[in-house]
Amino acid sequence: MAYLQTDVTKVTTRVLQNMKLHGEKIAMLTAYDYSMASLLESAKIDVVLVGDSAANVMEGHKTTLPISLDEMIIYAASVVRAIKRALVVVDMPFGTYQGNSKQALASAIRIMKETGADAIKMEGGEEILESVQRILSAGIPIMGHLGLTPQSINKFGTYAVRATEEEEAEQVKKDALILQEAGCFALVLEKIPAKLAGEVSSSLKIPAIGIGAGPHTDGQVLVLQDMLGITQQFKPRYLRTYGTFGEDISNAIRHYISDVKRGDFPNEKEQY
Ligand code: KIV
Repeated sequence: MAYLQTDVTKVTTRVLQNMKLHGEKIAMLTAYDYSMASLLESAKIDVVLVGDSAANVMEGHKTTLPISLDEMIIYAASVVRAIKRALVVVDMPFGTYQGNSKQALASAIRIMKETGADAIKMEGGEEILESVQRILSAGIPIMGHLGLTPQSINKFGTYAVRATEEEEAEQVKKDALILQEAGCFALVLEKIPAKLAGEVSSSLKIPAIGIGAGPHTDGQVLVLQDMLGITQQFKPRYLRTYGTFGEDISNAIRHYISDVKRGDFPNEKEQY
């Protein structure tokens, strides 16, 4: 089944397209630093997203809004240094593309030039179309992002599931087609009903990658710290954890503190 995944030396937007064509699911995770990105790369992840969720998990902000382009570039450049095979996608942070397509292009160019990433991601549909078109015309691949778009949290007022009503569901379907038509190579669908996500995915030629959007999308994405059990207070229904690393790290740190205090570390073999 993993006919493409194991064979390719570099995952490109074209490879993702072929994976959709052959029904091979796309696995995507976030990373913000060299060490974690190295682990994702050695595990052969398909896509690494340098998400603006860095604002939450790396910087402790309540929303993704405060993170700057300069900060995203530092995280992304660190990730790119660790990656050879995976496709690296970088989030355009809030305020760097909404409502001004020239500024949007300048931001996207900075990301591509200063990080070496493969593509960028932007939140929104037809309201950001002008920026999408301008960036694509410069040859920069774009991953769209629809449904719960966290940069619009102040408009939504809640992180609850989106598009449960007909009108918003229709808008998601329309936006997905608009972004595909414009030339986006893939979409993220965040926290929308599984049935709607399935309908959107099957209406598209480009892959749709879900988070909290059920099993019928062409792939899945999670925030790395969430799926590793490091962000312990965050437990939405859609999240599956693959470890208790938050607890394990805390225990390791407590053990180290105790060894230092007891004079047990370093021992005779751990010195010169
Ligand atoms: O910023 C991010 O990590 C994201 C994913 C949740 C899709 O946009």
